[in-house]
Amino acid sequence: MGLAHQHMPQGVAENYRYWGEEQTVFVQSAKGCVLTDCDGKEFVDFRLGYGPIILGYRDERVDEAVAKAMRERGILTGFSSPLDVPVIEAIKALCPQIEKMRFANSGTEAVMGALRTARGFTGRDRVVVVEGGFHGLYDEMMWKSDMEGWSGGPGTVPDIVPFGAGIPKGSRELVDFLSLNDFDELEALFSRGGDTIAAVLLEPIMGNCGSIAATPEWLQALRQACSQAGAMLVIDEVKTGFRVARGGAQELYGITADLTTYAKAMGNGYPVACFGGRADVMDVIGAGGGVVHGGTYTGNLVGLSASLATLEILKETDALEVAATMGAAIQASLGRVFEGAGVAHRFTGPDAMFGVHFTADEVPSNYRDWKRTDSPLYTAFAWNLIERGVMLEPDSREPWFLCEAHRALDLSWFEAVATEAMEVALTKA
Ligand SMILES: Cc1ncc(COP(=O)(O)O)c(C=O)c1O
Repeated sequence: MGLAHQHMPQGVAENYRYWGEEQTVFVQSAKGCVLTDCDGKEFVDFRLGYGPIILGYRDERVDEAVAKAMRERGILTGFSSPLDVPVIEAIKALCPQIEKMRFANSGTEAVMGALRTARGFTGRDRVVVVEGGFHGLYDEMMWKSDMEGWSGGPGTVPDIVPFGAGIPKGSRELVDFLSLNDFDELEALFSRGGDTIAAVLLEPIMGNCGSIAATPEWLQALRQACSQAGAMLVIDEVKTGFRVARGGAQELYGITADLTTYAKAMGNGYPVACFGGRADVMDVIGAGGGVVHGGTYTGNLVGLSASLATLEILKETDALEVAATMGAAIQASLGRVFEGAGVAHRFTGPDAMFGVHFTADEVPSNYRDWKRTDSPLYTAFAWNLIERGVMLEPDSREPWFLCEAHRALDLSWFEAVATEAMEVALTKA
C-alpha cells in the first residue's frame, strides 16, 4: 500500500477499492471465477468486479472476438462502424422493449444519457430515485439516504445527504426520493406534482441494496403513475441486465420501461454500456435543438466486439442457467450453515445476484428494512470468508454475483469454509 499512497489518493484508483491499510486487495490475475492476489493467494470470487463478469474472467470466446476486432478493424475512428447495428440487434433479440439505442462506456454514462433524454422528451427537470439505489458517480445521483445516521424511530425518515464533498447543493433540488414498495409515498409523490417529474429511475431488484426487490404490484402501480403523469419510467438494468434473465429484470416482472440502461454483463467486463427504449423518446436525440449525446469512446470496437460475443453466448448457451443453478446451490449451502449456527436469515433476489440478510423478520422490502438486519454480523462473516479464500464485498448491501465459470466450484469446500467463517464470526460477536 505504501508505494500506491505516493501516487494516488488513498492508494487506490477508485474510493470503494480502499478497504483499509491491511485489507486493500491488489489482484495479480483473474481466470474463470478465481482471483489471485499479489501474494499468490487465491479467492473464489462472488464479487465479480461489482457484477460485470457473467461468463468468467478471461473468457476465451469473448477475448478472441475482441482480439480479432482489434487486429482486423482497429479500436476507434470517431466514425460509425458495422458493429453498431448488430450489437443493438442482439440486445433487441433479448429485450423486446428496446426500439432504439445509443452506446456509452460505463453505467454512469448510460444513466446520464437516459436522464438527459427523458428530460429532453418531457421538457421537465425533476428526477425521482428510490432509497438505497445507486446509479453512478455523477453529481445529481450522488445524494443518498443517510441510513447510518438514521435512528429508525417510528415516524422519522432518513436525511438525504451527499456522498461526500464536491457535490453542488443545487443538484439536490433536481432529485426526489421514494421508498421502495411504499404505496402511500408513491401516491403522495404523484399527487404532489407528478406532472413536474421527468423520470423515475430505479433498479426494481436493487443491485446496490442487497437485491431487495419491488413487488410486482408496486412496480405496476409505479408504471401506471408514470404513464398517467407523462413521466418516463427509467429502469436501471446496469446490474440486472443480461444477468437475472436474458431480458433482465423487465423479463422477470413483465413490466416495461420507457428507457432502460445496460452496462456490466453486456460485455463480460469490457467497458461498454448503452441506453434506449421507446423510439419516439429516443428520437428526441438529434441536431437542431434535440438532446446531445456522444463521446470520443462511444461505440468503440473493443466494447462492441466484446458485447456482441457475450450477448451471442448468453442467447445461445445455458450460461445464465448455470450461473443461476450455482447461485441456488450456494444459497442452499449457506442456508444449512446459518441454520446450523442458529442465525435467522433471509435470501433476497434472483439466484445469479442474491442478497443475504440476517433477520428473523419478513424479507426486507426496502432500504429502511435493511437497517433492521444484523449487517455487522454479515460483515464479520464476510471478512472471515475472505480470510479463507471466498471473495465478496463485506457489506450486505452488495449482492453475491454468480457467473458461468462458478460451474467448477467445489460446493463441499465452500460449505466447510462458510461453516468455519460463521463459527468464528459468532465467537467474536
Ligand atoms: C444500478 C447501477 N447503475 C449505475 C452504475 C454505475 O455504473 P459504472 O460504475 O459503470 O459507472 C452502477 C454501478 O455499480 C449500478 O450498479
